[in-house]
Amino acid sequence: MDYSITPKEFEQFRALIYQECGISLNESKKTLLVSRLSKRLRTLELDSFQEYYDMVSGQTESDEFTLLLDLVSTNKTDFFREPKHFDFLREEIMPTLQSSRRIRVWSSASSSGEEPYTIAMTLYDSVPDPDRWDFKILASDISTRVLARAASGVYEDERVRELPPDLVSRHFLKGKGERAGMIKVKPHLTQMVRYRRINLMDETFPIKAPLDLIFCRNVMIYFDRPTQAQLVNKFYRYLKPGGYLFIGHSESLQRLDQPFKAIAPTIYQKEA
Ligand SMILES: C[S@@+](CC[C@H](N)C(=O)[O-])C[C@H]1O[C@@H](n2cnc3c(N)ncnc32)[C@H](O)[C@@H]1O
Repeated sequence: MDYSITPKEFEQFRALIYQECGISLNESKKTLLVSRLSKRLRTLELDSFQEYYDMVSGQTESDEFTLLLDLVSTNKTDFFREPKHFDFLREEIMPTLQSSRRIRVWSSASSSGEEPYTIAMTLYDSVPDPDRWDFKILASDISTRVLARAASGVYEDERVRELPPDLVSRHFLKGKGERAGMIKVKPHLTQMVRYRRINLMDETFPIKAPLDLIFCRNVMIYFDRPTQAQLVNKFYRYLKPGGYLFIGHSESLQRLDQPFKAIAPTIYQKEA
């Protein structure tokens, strides 16, 4: 069955998705929405987009809503994606934090875990005595599906093919037998990371301590400017004085009304 979407139905989905997760779909995303959602309608044996809308609206905590968000957003990520951020963390930030031995990080759109584990590897490898440090990384995302993947710590081994072999053997276990072709993040890293579903659109975040670092990479690009500005101002409140915010390389805080100081491309600092 071929589905078509009426202007009213498109508007309903657009408003729902914007309201719930800040992703702003313009007219040009209509074809994409129709093709991705049509498969779902077929699986559920629904007759129209209206039926699907009625099913998900008002059910934003449901698995079906998570699935809808997965279909409209992208979860693309990689280990050491945008590696300059991790060079900066290792070379510029870590030397200034040596006396504290306690670091709190939030990977706020962590997708399937490659970003928080990359942060964990970088922190771990930046100090001579990592076991004597108190490293904690909160990995959050709106999608419980990707968070479950992150929590498993299991990936196809081709995901680390480009990484230095000594780094891979230090931080990953290779699967054998039935698990050949898979790798698993070692416990010294998994125990640094906690997972939680957090919607960046929420008024406040369930986070206790002020943080040293926040990563919010490659998600703000889907938000409109007022939503980006609100989010960045919220992040400011959760950081320690002197704390850092990392955003994606194709994102920018320029032209947003926000208090951060730019200190390197796509790296920002809260006033000390
Ligand atoms: C492209 S991935 C980015 C992953 C990682 N930060 C990186 O740069 O490689 C974007 C992630 O943002 C998540 N996302 C989208 N809207 C969100 C929201 N309102 N709150 C929290 N996460 C959201 C998606 O589920 C997706 O996993």
